[in-house]
Amino acid sequence: MRNYNVKKLKILELLAQTSCISGEVLAQRIGISRTAVWKYIQALKDEGYPIVTTKKGYSLSTTSDLILPENIEKALETHKINLINKVYYFRSVSSTMEVAKKLAEQEKNFLVIAEKQTAGRGRLGRPWISNEGGIWMSLLIRPSISLRESFILTYLASLCVCKALRQITSLSFYLKWPNDIVFLTNDEIKKVAGILLELKAEVDKIDYAIIGIGINVNNQINSFEPTGISLKELTNRLWNRTDIIIEIMKNFYHYFQVKPEEILNEWKQLCLTLGKKVKIIRPQGELIGKALDIAEDGALWLEAENQRAVKIYSGDCIHLRVA
Ligand code: BTN
Repeated sequence: MRNYNVKKLKILELLAQTSCISGEVLAQRIGISRTAVWKYIQALKDEGYPIVTTKKGYSLSTTSDLILPENIEKALETHKINLINKVYYFRSVSSTMEVAKKLAEQEKNFLVIAEKQTAGRGRLGRPWISNEGGIWMSLLIRPSISLRESFILTYLASLCVCKALRQITSLSFYLKWPNDIVFLTNDEIKKVAGILLELKAEVDKIDYAIIGIGINVNNQINSFEPTGISLKELTNRLWNRTDIIIEIMKNFYHYFQVKPEEILNEWKQLCLTLGKKVKIIRPQGELIGKALDIAEDGALWLEAENQRAVKIYSGDCIHLRVA
C-alpha cells in the first residue's frame, strides 16, 4: 500500500467538513506550523484536489463529495482486505480501463479511480459518459481461473455493486441481464450502474482481468441518456463516494471466496429479467421470448417464441411489457 500522509489526509477531512477554514485553525487542529499547512495545501493542489485559497482561508470547490484514495487504502487495511496493493487516483483520464492496462506491467492487483473520463467505454463498444461526480473505476486482478470460467466475474461484480448500493442507500436496487444495476421507478427501469469486463488471457489461464465499474452517483445524467439515473437524482442528496467504493471492495473480498454456483444463485434472487418477456438484440438479429434462467456457464436461457430454449451469451436485453 502507499505510504499515505496522515497530515494531508487530516487537512482534506477538515476541508470537507467546513465551507472555509483558516490556515491558523488548520495548523492548531493538526498540530503543525502554518508554513507546514501551506506546503501540504500546495502539494494537495498539485495532486489535483480542488482547493481554493481566499482571504478567509481554504475551501474545497466541488459540487460533489471528494473521493479520498487514502481513506480507501486505510479502510482496506483496517478490514484486512488484501485484494489490491494500491489505489491509483486521477482527476481526469481517457478511460480507467486504458490506464489499468498500462499499469498492469508494473503493479500486481490494484484499483484505478478517476473523477472524469474523456473516452469512457461501455459494453458492446458504446461510449460511456463519465462526468464529474460519478464513480468510474477499474479493478485489476489476477484470479487463478480459466477463460471458460471468467464469465463469473461480471456476475460477481454486478452483485457486489448492487449489494453495496443497497447497503449504503437502503434503496432496492436490482440486476438486469447481463450486468446492469437498475432501479424501478413508476414501472420504468432506470440504469444506475454498469460493468465492463476486459481480459488478458490464454485459453487455460487468465493473465489478468480488468473489471470496469461505472456508477452514476452525484453526477447529472445527460438528456440523451433517458434510461439512466444517478443516486443524486433518485434521492435529492449527495452520496459519499468513498464509502460506496469501500463497501464494494468489502463485497468483492467476500464474494471472491464464494463458489460460482452460490454467486449465480444470489444474483438470480436480485435479477428482474428472469420470468420476463424480453427482446434480445444481437448483431445476428433479434429474438423475443421468455427469460428462463441463467445457465451454469453464465448464458441466459431464453424460451424463444415457438422454439426450444436457446442459450444467449451476449447482447442487449430489453424488458417488454406484457399487454
Ligand atoms: C456498460 O455498458 O454498462 C458498462 C459501463 C462500464 C463503465 C466503466 S466506468 C469505469 C470503466 N472505464 C471505462 O471506460 N468503462 C468502465
